[in-house]
Amino acid sequence: MTKAKRAASPPGTEGIESVPLKVGGKRHPLLGMGLWALGRWDRDAEVRTRATLEHALTAGVTWIDTAEVYGTGRSERLLGEVLTRVNADPSKLLLTTKVSWEHLRARQVHAAVVGSLQKVGRTSVDLVLVHAPDPHVPIAETMEALETLWKAKTIGAIGVSNFSVDELAAARAALHETDIVVNQVVYNLFDREDGDAVLEYCRTNGIVVEAYTPLLRGLLAGRYLDGEAPSPEVRRFAHHLLERDRFDELVVRARAIRALATAENVPMASIALHWLRRRGAATIFGASSPDQVDAILDAWRHRPSDATLDRADEIARGAGRA
Ligand SMILES: NC(=O)c1ccc[n+]([C@@H]2O[C@H](COP(=O)([O-])OP(=O)(O)OC[C@H]3O[C@@H](n4cnc5c(N)ncnc54)[C@H](OP(=O)(O)O)[C@@H]3O)[C@@H](O)[C@H]2O)c1
Repeated sequence: MTKAKRAASPPGTEGIESVPLKVGGKRHPLLGMGLWALGRWDRDAEVRTRATLEHALTAGVTWIDTAEVYGTGRSERLLGEVLTRVNADPSKLLLTTKVSWEHLRARQVHAAVVGSLQKVGRTSVDLVLVHAPDPHVPIAETMEALETLWKAKTIGAIGVSNFSVDELAAARAALHETDIVVNQVVYNLFDREDGDAVLEYCRTNGIVVEAYTPLLRGLLAGRYLDGEAPSPEVRRFAHHLLERDRFDELVVRARAIRALATAENVPMASIALHWLRRRGAATIFGASSPDQVDAILDAWRHRPSDATLDRADEIARGAGRA
């Protein structure tokens, strides 16, 4: 990067590398923010989410992820409002939304994307993902509808989420003139069984893996390690990730990873984020306050050594003694 470009980067985001998308001509940052907000869509949460998003955009986060189901549309609407307020330049952003797994019939896909665009206040969006497969709807029908929207330049590129390797291959086979550019999956130090296989397939085929829940809802940033228990709400939305019969063991391993971070003088989240970066995944984090955004950007700036990342990997897998 040249000196001039470096100077132009907003504070905090220098060094968020990007990779080219195989379709659409945009680059895909390796770090971005998601607007799921744990389903907390009461009035206070909306005010906080708005402030957090505005802060992230001002700090230079350029990849924002939402979905029609988040807050049943309020997330997309809030994104549109904030983009207008900060006068964001669309050419500098990568905006992603998702069609719900309940809307995968051709007519529903079209209506969902039109609805998303209206809510975000745009005439086109960079990336539209299928949020999750629906075994009752042939994937070819969904892909054909998305390809029609892509040809009309309503969407810049097509992606999927929560797709296995087989599902991904079937989706790609149903496209004629374009290809799947991303697969967004749960992937973090502790949750990687499917992620590893998906990552391998995607690496071979030039598809970006977007890793969601990278901090395991804060556990990999040091939360819940000193007696605080996840709230029922966090447990509910974390599904199996923080199940009680697994939680105590995760805490032991996470404490060992925190000790590694302390020894290397980096924030604990640096290990979680750079473990993903080193594996070639793009990371989509969640945050519910401007301070959390700052902490994550700070963690991104600290790059742990390969030896530390290797050791964290072993600890997370339970290989050897924590
Ligand atoms: N495609 C899908 O099916 C799918 C599924 C899930 C998520 N996603 C996407 O991925 C995004 C991120 O997912 P996620 O929210 O599960 O990711 P995450 O980054 O693992 O968890 C985010 C949560 O971690 C806590 N946190 C953040 N920074 C922290 C810090 N510095 N110290 C302590 N705790 C911290 C916060 O919890 P509190 O808010 O409780 O403070 C925050 O809401 C979502 O917004 C969404 O866009 C996609």
